[in-house]
Amino acid sequence: MKSINLFLVTLLIMALAIALSSSISSAMEEPNSNIQGTSHFILSRKQNRISLTCDKYPKICHVKGSAGSDCCNNRCVNFTIDMLNCGRCGKKCSFPKICCEGKCVNPRSNEKHCGKCGNKCDNRGSCVYGMCSYA
Ligand SMILES: *[C@@H]1O[C@H](CO)[C@@H](O)[C@H](O)[C@H]1NC(C)=O
Repeated sequence: MKSINLFLVTLLIMALAIALSSSISSAMEEPNSNIQGTSHFILSRKQNRISLTCDKYPKICHVKGSAGSDCCNNRCVNFTIDMLNCGRCGKKCSFPKICCEGKCVNPRSNEKHCGKCGNKCDNRGSCVYGMCSYA
C-alpha cells in the first residue's frame, strides 16, 4: 500500500515537472511585450497542461491551484460550482440557473441560494427576484 502511494506521488511530481517545464519553454518561444499578459498566458498554459492529463492521472486535479478535484474530458473541474459540469460531467445549468452544491438552482427564487450560492433566507423572508424579503 505504501509503495503504491509513493508511486502515485512520484507520478504526480513527474507530470507536474513536465507540465511546468513545457509551459515555461513554450512561453519563452512566444515572447509577449505585455508583462501582465505574459504571466496570465503562462498561467493559463500551465493549467491547460496540467488538466490535459487528468483522464490518466485523476489525482492531478487534487493539486493546489487546480480548478477543482473532479475530472471531465481531461479537464479539472469543480462539480460543486461548475455551470457546465454541475454535479457530474456534462450537466449544464441553463439560464437563469446557477450551480450550487452540485445542483442547478434558480437564484431568483431558491430559499437556500437566494441571489448567490449559500445565501439562505431562513427567517429573512422568502426569496423574491434573488433577494430575501417579506413581500
Ligand atoms: C469547489 O468550489 C467550492 C465552492 O466555491 C469550494 O468550497 C471548494 O473548495 C472547491 N473545491 C476545489 C477542489 O477547489
